[in-house]
Amino acid sequence: MLSSQSLLALVGAVDSPSLTTVGFGVATLVAWFVLAVLIPKEHRGRLRLPLLMQGMWLIATVIWAAKFFAVATRDLFAVVSSVFGALALARIGWLLVIDVFLQEGRRIGLSKLTRDLLHAVMLIIVAISAARAAGADAQALATTGGLVTAGLTFSLQQTLGDLVAGILLSARAPFEVGDWVAYDDDRQHVGRVVEINWRDTRLHTNDDVEVVVPNSTLARASILVFTRPRPISRRMVLFDVGYQHAPHDVVDAVREAINDPISGVLPTPAPDVILSSFEGSSMRYAVRFFIEDFLRRDAIDSDVRMRLWYALHRVGIDFQFPRLDVDVLKPTTHDPEAKMQRRADALARIDFLGKMAHEDVRALAEASRTRVFHPGEVVVRAGDTSTELFVLASGECVVRTDTGREVARLGAGDFFGEMALLTGEPRSATVAAVTPCTLHVLQADAFRTVIARYPEKLEQVSQVVAERQAEIERRRGADLSLQLKAQQQETLLSRMRRYFAGKPE
Ligand code: CMP
Repeated sequence: MLSSQSLLALVGAVDSPSLTTVGFGVATLVAWFVLAVLIPKEHRGRLRLPLLMQGMWLIATVIWAAKFFAVATRDLFAVVSSVFGALALARIGWLLVIDVFLQEGRRIGLSKLTRDLLHAVMLIIVAISAARAAGADAQALATTGGLVTAGLTFSLQQTLGDLVAGILLSARAPFEVGDWVAYDDDRQHVGRVVEINWRDTRLHTNDDVEVVVPNSTLARASILVFTRPRPISRRMVLFDVGYQHAPHDVVDAVREAINDPISGVLPTPAPDVILSSFEGSSMRYAVRFFIEDFLRRDAIDSDVRMRLWYALHRVGIDFQFPRLDVDVLKPTTHDPEAKMQRRADALARIDFLGKMAHEDVRALAEASRTRVFHPGEVVVRAGDTSTELFVLASGECVVRTDTGREVARLGAGDFFGEMALLTGEPRSATVAAVTPCTLHVLQADAFRTVIARYPEKLEQVSQVVAERQAEIERRRGADLSLQLKAQQQETLLSRMRRYFAGKPE
């Protein structure tokens, strides 16, 4: 228990507080109360630092006022009290104006980084001014400031690096809060920017995890910003199909499948499919499409993959995977007999071959192969000396003169290449695929052997050949009279006969 004498002695040992000090104490007390009411509960932690400053102010003020300390010590604490008092006041003012009134600076578009920097600068200026006002020696202040700066620079190298990187980052603004970014190859690091502060940038990933990336790391990295320059980004789903499937079959099936809406896939720019690369045992395709909801990217990719599986499954195309086991499979899609029969049927549908004996059509089918062509590919070129005959099983071809003028279009069941085959002359025109085409290619020798047994058919074909030649001439500008046409057919027929006579069976 303190006796009344000792209490008096204690009071006597302390200078009575000045009006300003008491006024300051009361004013800050009211401010604390107001702040405690205004600041939301979850942000009350922000009051801790200024409260600490206020506490320091109180201690320093008491020491300053205590008579039993040496004058030099009391002078020093006068400065300390002034500095902490001013800092507490500045912090209170900051909380009221920036945090409460300006809603953390959002009202005037202040980023967290700028806010933190302004705050730091304000505190430094306030501390120096308060020290000066309390009579601190300018030279001593400069020396102390220099020493503190040197110490901080040395011990906080990394932090300062982050700070500088943070400032540069916000000046360059390669991304903003809300953007989706990736800064390395780790898929788990892809995230939405939730905060950029003076030290680090925080990303929220799809795994509901926060990744804290030091700004200095970001300053060195190549950053992918998925939501810039436009809020949409392109995705690519890869899949492999074996070489036995013609690319156009795969592309057609997939294109049809992805043209129907898929949740999350933007209709424009339209999704597409490309043959991306040739791999060791398969061809790799890529479905490319745009999405806007980057958060759902995995789910959208998955929907696209499912759509692919169904589309390819329907047309009997399987995905290809590297296989380590060797299966002995009964060929189903490559049944040679079925293929041969399909070819024989297609040949029998051609007018001038239709009325031939079954064995002859069969012999022709045996001497032919099936070939597929991609749109734009040239099957025969004007002037070439090849001699096969082509029968279109499916697709469309265009016939052009050597100068590039279109002469005719041929569809399923039509044939071409008969002119060179029957006359031995160079190809009269260029024939190219317009759509994906499947063609039966008849070997010249086998065809000649068979057709030689049907002289009347030669005449029939010569008629077709003459008409086609006339068409070519017409496209070249010549107007052939009927008589001339008949003459041409006549000479053509005799040319064909001569050619055949010269070719032993
Ligand atoms: P060939 O000359 O062997 O090679 C080019 C082919 O184009 C030719 O045989 C004909 O089969 C075909 N062709 C040329 N002109 C026409 C035409 N007017 N109409 C349809 N096909 C043609």
